[in-house]
Amino acid sequence: MNEVKVLITDDEIKKRVHELALAIKTEFGENIYCVVILTGAIVFFVDLLRALTELGACVKYSLVKVSSYKRKESAGTINLELGMEEKIDGKRILLVEDIVDTGVTLDFLKKYLLGKNAEEIKICALLDKKARRKKHIKIDYIGFKVPDKFVVGYGIDYDQQYRDLSYIGVID
Ligand code: IMP
Ligand code: MG
Repeated sequence: MNEVKVLITDDEIKKRVHELALAIKTEFGENIYCVVILTGAIVFFVDLLRALTELGACVKYSLVKVSSYKRKESAGTINLELGMEEKIDGKRILLVEDIVDTGVTLDFLKKYLLGKNAEEIKICALLDKKARRKKHIKIDYIGFKVPDKFVVGYGIDYDQQYRDLSYIGVID
């Protein structure tokens, strides 16, 4: 295992998740439909869901899975591994992602959801790694901006490792 340096502590994450929930609840109101991108966003989403329900929101969600990332290199092409069966015609969607890097994944999924006749798609990403962006993507809710480093923890992995860390760190 490589050494992990703490970048964002669990307390900082907790605080930020509550701030994001408040902003989302204010804009969306009581009924919120989330589409969560597996696998990395799951830890963040569960905390966000709890924060939203504490604020009195009713949250529904679906899961999607794509693949593109092979170890440290982004392949650039996206495969939809798990799509959605739920109907989202006319729905306002909050798409939840762990980290935005090139933006290719979100660009693909946004088109996928619009193709299923979603009315509007807002994006919530825990981390924004802007340095390597290839597709212009508007991220409506950002947890933290991160430098151009490989980050892990709080659901985010390196080769399936480190997802269980309670904080976000950088591997050397
Ligand atoms: P994008 O399509 O290049 O924006 O990549 C998004 C996906 O790449 C994310 O959902 C992550 O799964 C993965 N990814 C990007 N940067 C990192 C990182 O620093 N650590 C772990 N996974 C990452
Ligand atoms: Mg991902």
